[in-house]
Amino acid sequence: MPPEEKWTVSRLLAWTRDFFKKKGIEKPQLEAEILLACAMQIKRIELYTIYESEPPENQRAVYRDFVRRRGAGEPVAYLVGSKEFYSLTFKVDRRVLIPRPETEDLVLQTLDKLSAYPAGSEPVIADVGTGSGILAVTLAKHLPKHLTSAKIIAVDISPEALAVAEHNAAVHHVAEKIEFRQSDLLEQVAEPPDIVVSNPPYVSRPEYEALPDDVKNFEPKLALLAGENGTEIAERLIAQSSVKLKPGGYLLIEGSPMIAEKVKSFFTGCWDDSQILPDLAGRQRIICGRKRQ
Ligand SMILES: C[S@@+](CC[C@H](N)C(=O)[O-])C[C@H]1O[C@@H](n2cnc3c(N)ncnc32)[C@H](O)[C@@H]1O
Repeated sequence: MPPEEKWTVSRLLAWTRDFFKKKGIEKPQLEAEILLACAMQIKRIELYTIYESEPPENQRAVYRDFVRRRGAGEPVAYLVGSKEFYSLTFKVDRRVLIPRPETEDLVLQTLDKLSAYPAGSEPVIADVGTGSGILAVTLAKHLPKHLTSAKIIAVDISPEALAVAEHNAAVHHVAEKIEFRQSDLLEQVAEPPDIVVSNPPYVSRPEYEALPDDVKNFEPKLALLAGENGTEIAERLIAQSSVKLKPGGYLLIEGSPMIAEKVKSFFTGCWDDSQILPDLAGRQRIICGRKRQ
């Protein structure tokens, strides 16, 4: 076969980049490379060392299937079955939301609060709506050295999501540090937490209807939609936390700039110092309150 007719790595990538561009995919070259590397079971960087070679037919068949499904809207993370978060690799599939980079700020803010706890204390941390387990697992891996016996409770209303989170905790060797429970928000958490951290669903119904197809048609609705205004879950979590948190404890909630002020307004009564913290891009992202001592 003449070289120009061979399906070399370089030709496969070029063809897919054009196809993805026509489909309106934002990073066509990057996504093509991720999918081809996954189909060939190699690292993306290794593609550059075999640019002019032709992958075997079985790998090209896997790749063709990936490209077809990506063209139909399926997110890359579900196709390859994983997503990076805080430099850790998490298994993801359609049972859980795909981790978003802005949620890393929630980890940073929670670690910041934890660092002030005295050595030897055993703070109880509740991750509400754990999904793939990114917050519980990342916190367990990065607990300050003086707080290694902190207790982490990760809850989700979805048993399917909890199965993914438990898998991720095992893969990252922190299963013994985290207790997983099916619960509607904090209902099944009897022990008063020192810190409640949550990336709850926060999409309003009109926003949900306008979401891109690759989100709306593939990611769990239960992980996204929060009533008409996007604040329904946050409002309930603040009310529950005002009862369940230890005095002086913190509640940190991820939200969008659209709802941050509204969510902050729910911190009334027993709360001190409620504030909105920006993410690394400067957008209003985390709403945080401290329960009065
Ligand atoms: C936006 S996702 C966040 C997942 C993960 N923490 C993350 O940051 O990627 C919200 C999660 O909350 C869960 N959830 C929705 N309603 C809930 C409820 N009432 N109680 C507990 N979890 C809930 C969903 O199943 C989903 O896993």
